[in-house]
Amino acid sequence: MVDATTRLLGIIGDPVEHSLSPQLHNYLLNKLNLNFRYLAFRVSPQNLPQAVAGLKALEVAGFNVTVPHKQAVLPLLDELSPEAQTLGAVNTVVYRDGKLSGHNTDWIGFLQPLDQRGVDLSGRRVVILGAGGAAWGVAFALLKRDIAHLTVINRTPSKAEDLVMHVKHNLGFDHVESMALEAGLIRNALQQAHLLVNATAVGLWPEIDRTPLDSDVLHSDLIVYDLVYNPLETALLKAAKRAGAQPVDGLGMLIAQGVAAFELWTGASVSKTHLLELRQLLFSDQNGGP
Ligand code: ATR
Repeated sequence: MVDATTRLLGIIGDPVEHSLSPQLHNYLLNKLNLNFRYLAFRVSPQNLPQAVAGLKALEVAGFNVTVPHKQAVLPLLDELSPEAQTLGAVNTVVYRDGKLSGHNTDWIGFLQPLDQRGVDLSGRRVVILGAGGAAWGVAFALLKRDIAHLTVINRTPSKAEDLVMHVKHNLGFDHVESMALEAGLIRNALQQAHLLVNATAVGLWPEIDRTPLDSDVLHSDLIVYDLVYNPLETALLKAAKRAGAQPVDGLGMLIAQGVAAFELWTGASVSKTHLLELRQLLFSDQNGGP
């Protein structure tokens, strides 16, 4: 029941109507009997400073930040976790003792499904498709698992090169290169790779038949991890299965980044059973539409 002590959580983004975070968090809050509510707020870029100041003045417990505000929110916060600082992106804000602190749980969310499957990336080669915000988080996460080499492939080569420079200069990892979106080169890179990550939006509903690369370059020693979770089984993951590769869908990451934020706000810990229930709940919600 909502009463005068109910605390507010939420998400700010533009657009935000398709976010699954309200279902995810309200489900956990309800299960754990915590007196918070989580709402979605559409905030346009020009209103971001007022929205953040307003949330702070209302002393909300915290909020998520999504596209297009993940970078723009940084100067509006009082402090940043070291990871948020290095990534230059915040997806979770915690309000405590009059201060807004920015965190990033996206990279933690990315690793969780791999860790859960017992995937050992140390000394392995990885190929990332895409060079946007999601790809930057993925690169940061992969370096935490001691990979040997990273290849970045993107439609716009200059953005792939920006990510390569960031990895070299800010993350201090030299075994990184960009590569043109060209089938022969990709085939070679994938021959030696253990993991392929799709961090582009290609394959997202409604263009569900599209893949970010020619699927005949996939092979059975690969793990193919698609960050797209709508649809859950993308055309790329279907092709991965046909090639005998191990598919990993994007819903595990969505849930894990949310749970990490939830634990920051509430201090509660979320059980494996609740994680499985969440997967069921969110899968049935997003299956077959936006
Ligand atoms: P996000 O925060 O999800 O990473 P983003 O920063 O807009 O979003 O990045 C989207 C990524 O998907 C980029 O790598 C983009 O490629 P460009 O840098 O060339 O724009 C990639 N992407 C989006 N639509 C694409 C398409 N139709 N074909 C190939 N790549 C695409």
